Amino acid sequence: MKRAKISVIGAGNVGASCAVWAASKELGDIVLVDIPDAGDKTAGKALDLAQCGPVERFDANIVGTADYAETAGSDVVVITAGLPRKPGMSRDDLVQTNVKIVGSVSEQVAKHSPEAILVIVSNPLDAMVYTAWKKSGFPTQRVVGQAGCLDIARYRTFIAMEVGCSVEDISALLMGGHGDDMVPLPRYTSISGIPVTQFIPEARLNEIIDRAKMGGGELVKLMGTSAYYAPASGTIQMVEAIVKDKRRILPCASYCDSEYGVGGYFVGVPTMLGRNGVEKVIEVELDGGERDLFDSSVSHVKELVELAEGFLNG
Ligand code: NAI
Ligand code: 2OP
Repeated sequence: MKRAKISVIGAGNVGASCAVWAASKELGDIVLVDIPDAGDKTAGKALDLAQCGPVERFDANIVGTADYAETAGSDVVVITAGLPRKPGMSRDDLVQTNVKIVGSVSEQVAKHSPEAILVIVSNPLDAMVYTAWKKSGFPTQRVVGQAGCLDIARYRTFIAMEVGCSVEDISALLMGGHGDDMVPLPRYTSISGIPVTQFIPEARLNEIIDRAKMGGGELVKLMGTSAYYAPASGTIQMVEAIVKDKRRILPCASYCDSEYGVGGYFVGVPTMLGRNGVEKVIEVELDGGERDLFDSSVSHVKELVELAEGFLNG
């Protein structure tokens, strides 16, 4: 059987970590791409990772390059190219620089892999997914953004830390944009099917939700740059669902038009992911308060997309 071909554009902290998770799960052959200025470093990272194969027991061709020709015919392309935030910066501060990078990368990718599914990671996420969609010319089903898999992993980690139970048993839902106004939904959070409110009082749960919402900033303060292990892990969870056609339902930034009344933007919603990319957006029932939070997060996404479009066309 032919191996899947996965290209990762941007071989920095998140991109290189994506390659590590993808290789360790033996998801396919991997092409790491960075700018020519990165020099031999990109090829070096690929070779270093390939040499983990005998120990970690994976077979994969792994190359590092600045040449998009090597990505030709990719099944999935992950885009992590762009600046990360530094302490004191918000994700939105990156829009002007990253919109140009993600725009030009998406054009290159579309030229060489016209049938690929794009998984966007660069920030500000929701505006970058929109940019990649516009610049690739791909159908909406084949463009999706990673944020929710990370945000929900943070939320699940903090709940497990509080309860002292396995992270595996926590099931949760989170919606909206990848900003501090993302919307974790306690009503849809359970531990082995038992509502989370039977384990954690409401006031404490709200503190945990706030920590999850600010989870990116907490790590920027600790590390001086943005997180990468968990973002890459969330990204590869999506890639695995696609290349194995698992039809997993994961929180992804997917195109919503009539869905949730969003009107043509990519926002975080429960999404079934399979071999065609976005197989389906799942519409869950939101009560008044949840709906208000979701709408306010979506308005922020719309403002960011307008800002990004201005820079892209300006
Ligand atoms: P990094 O600085 O370690 O790596 C970025 C890489 O992109 C660098 O190696 C750089 O040379 C490369 N790059 C820049 N322009 C390029 C181009 N035109 N073509 C190919 N490569 C190019 O940054 P890091 O930490 O890997 O973050 C990458 C992006 O991912 C940032 O925008 C960051 O904010 C975002 N991010 C998103 C998350 C999410 O959940 N959606 C979570 C964590 C980071
Ligand atoms: C994060 O949430 C910065 O988006 C990145 O860690």
